[in-house]
Amino acid sequence: MIIAIDGPAGSGKSTTAKAIAHKLGLKFIDTGAMYRAITLKFIQSDVDLSDIDKLKKILGETRIDFKESEDQLSVYMDGVDVTESIRSKEVTELVSQVSVIPEVRNALVPVQRKLAEGEDVVAEGRDIGTVVFPEAELKIFMVASETERAKRRLKEMQEKRIKIDYEEVQESIKMRDTIDSTRVHSPLTKAPDAVEVDTTNLTFEEQVNLIITLYKSRAAVNFKG
Ligand code: DC
Repeated sequence: MIIAIDGPAGSGKSTTAKAIAHKLGLKFIDTGAMYRAITLKFIQSDVDLSDIDKLKKILGETRIDFKESEDQLSVYMDGVDVTESIRSKEVTELVSQVSVIPEVRNALVPVQRKLAEGEDVVAEGRDIGTVVFPEAELKIFMVASETERAKRRLKEMQEKRIKIDYEEVQESIKMRDTIDSTRVHSPLTKAPDAVEVDTTNLTFEEQVNLIITLYKSRAAVNFKG
C-alpha cells in the first residue's frame, strides 16, 4: 500500500505524512529531504550547477539514508547526520534550482522506489503520485493559501532559530512554487486521480484524520477486490 502526498511548500505534507506513518505503522519517505541533502552536498563541493559531469560524479558518490526513531526521521548524508543542516536558508534557497536538473531526478527517483520495495509507505514530495509511484493506492494533493503556508513556514523556521522575517519567507515560497511547478521534468502537478485536500482552515488533527479515513476506505475497497 502506498500513500502519495504531493503539494507546494508549506502545505503541511511533511508533518502530516510523518503523523500518518506513525499512526498507521507505515514507512515514511521524505523525498524533499533527499533533494535537500544533495543540494547541501553540491554547496559543500562548491560545484557549478551547469557542470553536469561533475554533478553526476557527485551523485554517484553520495549516499543518503534515513533513520526512523519514535518521533523523528533523521537524514544522513555519507554517514553524517544532516537533519538540521538541510533545512538551512542556504539550502532552501538553492534546492528548487537543483531539483530542476534531470540528472539529479534520474539519480534520486530510483533510490526512492528502492526504499519502498516490499513496504507499506507514505511518501511525500512534488511528483510522488505522478512520477515516482503512479500506481499508489491513495494520492493526496495537499494545498493551503499562500498566506497560511508562509505563516506555517515562518513558525517552523523560528522554532529552529533561523533568522528570517515573514516577507522573506513569503518571497522564498513564491519563488519555489514557480520553479517547482513550471519545470519541464516532473513538475509539481496534481495527478488526475488525486484527492485535493485544502488544509487552510483545517487543524493538524483534522487533516491527519481526514487522510486516515480516506486510507481506510481505500484499503477496505482493495481488500474486497
Ligand atoms: O518538501 P521540501 O520543501 O523539503 O522540498 C524541497 C525541494 O525539493 C522543493 O522545493 C522541490 C524539491 N522536490 C522535488 O522537486 N521533488 C520532490 N519529490 C520533493 C521535493
